[in-house]
Amino acid sequence: MEQLKNSILVGKHIVLGMTGGIAAYKAAELCRALVKAGAAVQVVMTDAATQFMTPVTMQALSGREVFTSQWDSKAATDGSGNAISNNMAHINLTRGADAVLIAPASADFMAKLLHGRADDLLSLMCLAKPAEVPLILAPAMNREMWAHPATQRNTLQLKTDGAFVLDVGTGDQACGEVGDGRMLEADEILGDLIAHFTPKVLAGKRALITAGPTYEAIDPVRGITNLSSGKMGFAIAEAMLDAGCEVTLVAGRTALGSPRGVQTIPVISANDMLKAVQANVDNADIFIATAAVADWRPANAASQKIKKDGSGDTPTLSFAENTDILATVASSKRALSGSLYCIGFAAESENLEAHAKAKRERKNVPLLVGNIGPATFGMDDNALLLVDAKGTKELPRASKTELARQLVAEIAKRIN
Ligand code: CTP
Repeated sequence: MEQLKNSILVGKHIVLGMTGGIAAYKAAELCRALVKAGAAVQVVMTDAATQFMTPVTMQALSGREVFTSQWDSKAATDGSGNAISNNMAHINLTRGADAVLIAPASADFMAKLLHGRADDLLSLMCLAKPAEVPLILAPAMNREMWAHPATQRNTLQLKTDGAFVLDVGTGDQACGEVGDGRMLEADEILGDLIAHFTPKVLAGKRALITAGPTYEAIDPVRGITNLSSGKMGFAIAEAMLDAGCEVTLVAGRTALGSPRGVQTIPVISANDMLKAVQANVDNADIFIATAAVADWRPANAASQKIKKDGSGDTPTLSFAENTDILATVASSKRALSGSLYCIGFAAESENLEAHAKAKRERKNVPLLVGNIGPATFGMDDNALLLVDAKGTKELPRASKTELARQLVAEIAKRIN
């Protein structure tokens, strides 16, 4: 879960509507995450929602009084922070808001929205919402309810009417059944909201990204790897996706889940990574090499475990050099002609600027991103130094998600 402020969400005014469903507990987590990310959250609950979570809980998490009834006469604050006491919360709450997000959105509430019914505060507010304020729904229901033709028909019609209907999750449901229909997790909804607000500066582009460490086998149980967690590369993949790019991610072994919407190809060794890149690079407009690729591999990996023989002798390893994936791609015809834009990373331990500049020249890439490996490997934050033909630019220490977003903006500036 994102712990740091998020530049896309800072200052955004989100009206979080909750309807009845066990997924309401995830809305509590979502509310907290939104506030932490810097958004202002105004919670509106239906009667049914209050059976699952109390308004007191949601008030504590959002830091604002919760609205549950159209007859509630307390002043309602609009998106500009004006508290208005005209007893018309159903109008005021969405004025100046950046989005109305219904999570969980029950099957019943979706059916109601579709027909424009307005017999409680939340449905009334959705009907009275200005057209320019987006309505985003996170459906949550039993798999049979989700699969029912009525719900599918309603979902389609709500989309046609301009609502953004998020995916549903798959798996175990609170009722004990297994299938499609449960609400996305709070961090997934947060990610979708960030994507919603992100300008599509790379729409129509296709990116190929390498990430994580490689693992070079010594024998079937041992190998050589490095401390890369893959977090920076995965964050870049997500930021590229949010910016409208189609993304393929070639990832070494990491503990990270494949980002939703990204085609992830898992690999182990540098050679596997090279093959996966070569198989996919012809379709790409942008290649970003964030992976920490092993420079060498054991020349002859043993087919069986190397055993101690009791003599005290240690085995001798000899190495072969791995192909430089980035340099290979950067020297291809498409890269040299400018139809493939290549970005390299440099993980250094000292003299970042000098090493990064030298590496950019050596790998012949238009943009090289330097970072200090020991100060970032495995961590959630980083600091980057961008080096291109014109000079250098620092992206100061921030979360990897935030840096990824800034890097995407820099890439878009250079290729558009
Ligand atoms: N890289 C690659 N294939 C390799 C080695 C590196 O694609 N076999 C890429 C990395 O993904 C990164 C860039 O090249 O984008 C620089 O990697 P880095 O490990 O910092 O540099 P090296 O080329 O290994 O040089 P050195 O070890 O001398 O720092």
